[in-house]
Amino acid sequence: MSLPTLRLAALRNHLPPPLAATTSLSSLSPFTSIRRMSVPTTMKAVLVERTGGPEVLQFKTDQPVPTPQEGQLLVRNNISGVNFIDTYFRTGLYASPKPEVLGREGAGIIAAVGPNASGFQVGDRVAWLATGGYAEYTAVPAAKTVKIPDGVSDEDVMASFLSGMTVLSFVKETYAVQKGDWVLVHAAAGGAGFLMTQILKSIGAKVIGTAGGAEKCALVKSLGADVVIDYRSEEGKDWVKQVKEVTGGRGVDVVYDSVGKDTWEGSLEAVKRKGTIVWFGNASGPVPPLPLPKISPKCVKVARPTLFGYIETREEFEYYTNELFSRLKSGELKTKIHKIYPLEDIVQVHKDLEGRKTMGKPLLKP
Ligand SMILES: NC(=O)c1ccc[n+]([C@@H]2O[C@H](COP(=O)([O-])OP(=O)(O)OC[C@H]3O[C@@H](n4cnc5c(N)ncnc54)[C@H](OP(=O)(O)O)[C@@H]3O)[C@@H](O)[C@H]2O)c1
Repeated sequence: MSLPTLRLAALRNHLPPPLAATTSLSSLSPFTSIRRMSVPTTMKAVLVERTGGPEVLQFKTDQPVPTPQEGQLLVRNNISGVNFIDTYFRTGLYASPKPEVLGREGAGIIAAVGPNASGFQVGDRVAWLATGGYAEYTAVPAAKTVKIPDGVSDEDVMASFLSGMTVLSFVKETYAVQKGDWVLVHAAAGGAGFLMTQILKSIGAKVIGTAGGAEKCALVKSLGADVVIDYRSEEGKDWVKQVKEVTGGRGVDVVYDSVGKDTWEGSLEAVKRKGTIVWFGNASGPVPPLPLPKISPKCVKVARPTLFGYIETREEFEYYTNELFSRLKSGELKTKIHKIYPLEDIVQVHKDLEGRKTMGKPLLKP
């Protein structure tokens, strides 16, 4: 089967194409030395030297600009994304070496091309997934960098890059959502939830979204969610009962739960017999160890995926970036930027995110 045919077949099945197909990176000849535009030696960046609260985020103006190593590109970031996962690395919930510059994604211009980082030129407008986005410059692997197509802004990409690929891979691969499925999405007004609600509706699923507060609920409703529950309100506290009522006592086909500690027991109750729970985050704290007998009466499947497991190869990465860019370009997928904060306001960004004050995605202007 030819590559275009394979891609079409894969799209039909909601699955990425086989891994052996040629990638655009490997088809271009490698460069052996660094090519660069003029870059300063120091930069603004946010450094974390020890784990802790938002106060451990230190805004610095004298950090060394990194030199791109083998297979790396140096990107001058125009906009960087802030994700809830950044708070886990800050607190130590997820381990990472310190000192560290946090931030898993950025969009900007290539300032230098390292040895054997083929397929890119100085000046290309790109988005990347790696680490070190809370900075003016980041050295990133070419393998996890992609050119941004004309007609798509850096801001739209950053409002949907990590979050959007997470959602796309989880609704295609973790549980292949079908038209007519009942789907429960927690934190549906958040960075990931805002995109998930739209993508589920585009598949034809029936969406029950939870969110905290009237403003967030109105936003989720505006995306076409069939039922919205304010799970922080008095009436919404018993959201499990409401989910059961709406689904005729049956429960939902799948729950996408990124809230974790506060919702996991309710999610287990709200899922139907033979249903699936996709746990993918810990916004309220981690889910405690799950006793397996708890999931046996209803024959429930439990998944705990991570985006990075679905985009390991260049082929997989390009499959999801292409799908995301085409949805952005066509206008099918809308983005919501909570606010673009200057880099020096990073402590406030983390406070707002953990304080449940954000709707859509917070971004940083390095
Ligand atoms: N596994 C993966 O690969 C992957 C990738 C991307 C994201 N994620 C996960 O997806 C989730 C969403 O990430 P995001 O960056 O888009 O964040 P977000 O949804 O914009 O922010 C988190 C939201 O969670 C809700 N929440 C509920 N209880 C909370 C509490 N006790 N403290 C703070 N927030 C609480 C809040 O919404 P309400 O006010 O509406 O309750 C809050 O706005 C996170 O858990 C993240 O770790 C996982």
